[in-house]
Amino acid sequence: MSAPDRPAPDRSGAARPGAPDRDAPEQAYTDFTRSLSYGDYLQLDTLKSAHRPVTDAHDEHLFIAVHHVSEVWLDLIIRELRAAMDQLALGITDAPLKGLTRVVRAQEQLTNAWEVLKTMTPADYLSFRSAFGQASGFQSASYRMVEFLLGNRHAVLARPHEHRPDLHGPLTDALHGPSVYDLTLRLLDARGLNVPAEVLNRDPSQPPQLNEAVLNAWITVYRQPDTYWDLYELAEKLLDVEDNFRRWRFNHLTTVERTIGFKSGSGGTSGAGYLRRALETVLFPELWEVRTRL
Ligand code: HEM
Repeated sequence: MSAPDRPAPDRSGAARPGAPDRDAPEQAYTDFTRSLSYGDYLQLDTLKSAHRPVTDAHDEHLFIAVHHVSEVWLDLIIRELRAAMDQLALGITDAPLKGLTRVVRAQEQLTNAWEVLKTMTPADYLSFRSAFGQASGFQSASYRMVEFLLGNRHAVLARPHEHRPDLHGPLTDALHGPSVYDLTLRLLDARGLNVPAEVLNRDPSQPPQLNEAVLNAWITVYRQPDTYWDLYELAEKLLDVEDNFRRWRFNHLTTVERTIGFKSGSGGTSGAGYLRRALETVLFPELWEVRTRL
């Protein structure tokens, strides 16, 4: 954080005899009786108060920290995705690239979190497994929101939130609203690239299906990048997002297999088998298929 009301530091390197050492830590503000400190601004007491292991197991702390950090990144991703989608809905193609780039970078942080969690052995995990009963990331409302905004739509995935209207309401809205890809296809159509009405008016609560006419539209874009540069860039950025999503899923599965093997998940699914099937999800089918057809 900077202090705009301070004079610019003297970079001449010449310390005048008797002058205070501007680079010394004593120059920092230390009295926060009447102004906002770092911890106040960030509400660190509130943030840290949520970090409450229920056992004495050493690794429960790590387990909670990685989940908390992941949830914060997921919320940032939702915010950036929504902003990008608002711009796409207005027909803007360049500004969303900035937000989507931020999504991609945040996804990298999410994926890196597995590296820390993988230091936990099966025995470490079992030392606190009893603490969380049927709780599972399957019930992460933010993760579901990211999936719904990206277009992986299955009504059943919102069900764990039925007891929380504040979470279930926005998820249901997202389930029935356009995905980031639906909005992109509208832009394609607006450019005269002929997206069929049945795609533009499709039931948004269903996952996308590959459509030959949409594929042909993307083939045109990918064969003439100079003519359709903004759509071309947008498509590649969306592919980056899906690419990173796949990496997160894969690393999750690997971490799960090395931690609990093929035991069922705490959320009630088959565990690794369920997660392995999720690897087959395709968010933007034509953007993958276009590579084969070029
Ligand atoms: C060793 C640690 C972990 C284990 C053993 C584990 C295990 C599992 C399992 C077995 C599932 C399938 C659903 C079920 O519970 O039946 C699942 C789902 C999920 N987990 Fe984890 N998980 C771990 C860490 C994490 C972390 C750190 C996150 C971060 C947010 C996370 C997020 C999720 C999400 C979002 C799902 C739903 C995936 C989907 O439906 O496609 N998990 N987890």
